Amino acid sequence: MRKYSVALIKGDGIGPEIIDEAVKVLDAVSVKEGFEITYKEALLGGAAIDVTGEPIPEETIEIAKSCDAVLFGAIGGPQWDDLPRQKRPETGLLKLRKALEVFANLRPVTVYDELINASTLKPEVIKGTDLMVVRELIGGIYFGQPRGYEGDEAYNTMRYTKDEVRRIARKAFEIAMKRNKKVTSVDKSNVLEVSQLWRDTVSEVAKEYPEVSLEHMYVDNAAMQLIRDPKQFDVIVTGNLFGDILSDEASMLSGSIGLLPSASLGEKHGLYEPIHGSAPDIAGQGIANPIAAIASAAMMLRYQFGEIKAAERIEQAIKRVLKEGYRTKDIASFDAKEVVTTSEMGSLIAQYASEF
Ligand code: IPM
Ligand code: MN
Repeated sequence: MRKYSVALIKGDGIGPEIIDEAVKVLDAVSVKEGFEITYKEALLGGAAIDVTGEPIPEETIEIAKSCDAVLFGAIGGPQWDDLPRQKRPETGLLKLRKALEVFANLRPVTVYDELINASTLKPEVIKGTDLMVVRELIGGIYFGQPRGYEGDEAYNTMRYTKDEVRRIARKAFEIAMKRNKKVTSVDKSNVLEVSQLWRDTVSEVAKEYPEVSLEHMYVDNAAMQLIRDPKQFDVIVTGNLFGDILSDEASMLSGSIGLLPSASLGEKHGLYEPIHGSAPDIAGQGIANPIAAIASAAMMLRYQFGEIKAAERIEQAIKRVLKEGYRTKDIASFDAKEVVTTSEMGSLIAQYASEF
């Protein structure tokens, strides 16, 4: 029997509710496809601060590194907002990404036909959108030195080396080869040196992939193009901060940020998490949408374990629940046949994913 170990980091807010549903679905498909997943829970973010005083205890890093993959919910909440930066939940997540060296954050944006009216944008603009944001995750202004807050002045440094840009660019081109063979590299090279290096390096890497067409786009224009005509994009590759912002924007093409998964990949490790946050305002009410977490689990099966059939089962099941009109509250006003809870949504997907 094929066996995989998964570090389970539920985190804060709606994190635990949505991860429980992802596990439910994983258990259902693993039985069907004949593999076994064992889980090890670890603390991160506010949940870790409350127990250990630290947003990421050493033990969490050890567990995450020792397992075959990490499945993560969300972190943060108002009760930890006033802590100094080093003690904040977000710092824990950033340290985890860095420790696992997951430099490539893949954020696919799928517009489900069934939810075409859930977006605030016109159906004809978004119908058929299928793009992938490839965000550099462990460099750029999030990590650049020097940084500081001194009296009336504060600063951060957006810094990239050619090696860092090369590896994320290669990842983007590899992905484009399996998709529609187009890469849009997003930067601000009309203003920033770091973006000029980014652009030069991506152009160099492009020569290794003659089949893929490369275009460069300034980030302000990209933000506009994403909602003007999202279908022009296939793979978008960009730095840490621009990728953070553009992926939130792109999520709205799908109608709800509660739908979009992500995979963060490095040479060795893989971290899978929904792109949404911990939504403390709706935590514990059973109304959170577990689809992003469940779809992240499907990405884990596909990218980390090569369990393609199991991943497809989940992806098909998600489409089917939406087609049949089951909706959590975030997407409830759109063609809902029945509004369901977080756990009902998870159970339906688990059932459909293991039916055939
Ligand atoms: C994300 C989040 C994180 C980020 C925060 C929570 C540190 O917004 O995963 O997009 O900025 O990377
Ligand atoms: Mn973000």
